[in-house]
Amino acid sequence: MYDPLEPLTVRAEAVVDLAAIRHNVAALRSRVESAQLMTVVKADGYGHGMIPVARAAREAGADWIGAAVLDEALSLRAAGDTGPIFCWLTTPGEPVAEAIAAGIDLSAAAPWEIAELAEAVTDRPARVHLKIDTGMSRGGAVPEEWPALLRAAQLEEKAGRIEIVGIWSHLASSDEPKSPVNEAQLVNFVSAIDVAASLGVDPPLKHLANSGGTLALPETHFDLVRPGIATYGLSPFGHALPSSELGLRPAMTLRARLAMVKRVPAGAGVSYGLTWTAPRPSTLGLIPLGYGDGLPRHASNSAPVQVAGRRRGIVGRICMDQCVVNLEDDEAMAGDAVVLFGAGANGEPTADDWADAAQTINYEIVTRLGARVPRRYVDTAEATG
Ligand SMILES: Cc1ncc(COP(=O)(O)O)c(C=O)c1O
Repeated sequence: MYDPLEPLTVRAEAVVDLAAIRHNVAALRSRVESAQLMTVVKADGYGHGMIPVARAAREAGADWIGAAVLDEALSLRAAGDTGPIFCWLTTPGEPVAEAIAAGIDLSAAAPWEIAELAEAVTDRPARVHLKIDTGMSRGGAVPEEWPALLRAAQLEEKAGRIEIVGIWSHLASSDEPKSPVNEAQLVNFVSAIDVAASLGVDPPLKHLANSGGTLALPETHFDLVRPGIATYGLSPFGHALPSSELGLRPAMTLRARLAMVKRVPAGAGVSYGLTWTAPRPSTLGLIPLGYGDGLPRHASNSAPVQVAGRRRGIVGRICMDQCVVNLEDDEAMAGDAVVLFGAGANGEPTADDWADAAQTINYEIVTRLGARVPRRYVDTAEATG
């Protein structure tokens, strides 16, 4: 387990424990019986770093890597990942030919997308997963248009220009496993598979489950599961079922060094708008991170941090580059380490605590962490030998 209290010499860093990533991938794998496992690394691996995460996931047995956009999928190939990659979000006119030539599986939800893929083909057929909208009304063909999509795909398959390898959809409410929405989507998914089979389309990969489905809804596993957030050791269920109870280890720790420490008198206002006023003489620490680094401004006056083993609160508004922690009467000096969030094992706040403070979800806390925060990779499995 990574020690968030190890000495810190840089302004700020996000430490990513690759042993935790491998542990989580193995834990997810043990949750599924015969289904294959796709590790979702979109949005720079939910802020953790796409390439290192994908490598760690492959080492731990991920059969597939999932990316949202073409740039991500192509970067994975360029970095030397030769395994199955699925990429599901393209817009008209994007360079899909490059992806097809690189052997990247793509998604299609409308006949025009099938046509684009077929036209882009050169030496090998495009591998396509057909997407059905099972009730989320985001991507996917609506049931009325599903047969037309199937027929278009079938025609191009007969012409040797595409290969239908999957039927897939996405769950809207798997973070609430008891929600009737899950059952309704499952019914719609099975019905779409049946319609496809009746037209002679029966590809080997049917897939529906994200982290919530993988962890709590085994009936959604089908042939392949696509967990994202759980890979990073964060629970899709928030506080209702924290990651420790799921056997997951949060991989990211966000740390910084205090840029300044000062004593202010009672009545001193803090940060833009002076939205917090010291009720009594207080020691304040300046944290050199702000919304320019991805801290949510919504967490102003509420997010917790840990300094010298003690929980302390952010006071005043979070600015672009900095924010202020109320150290009360603690002894502290510039350069002291602050843990903003981590695994929680040493009493430090977690991404879930920050999510609560900002009224958002843990996904957003880690994913929006900006490029200005250097990522440092550790491997606690190696460290502990
Ligand atoms: C299509 C698709 N599959 C899988 C995932 C992974 O979801 P989660 O992070 O909830 O496991 C996502 C992310 O939202 C997604 O868009």
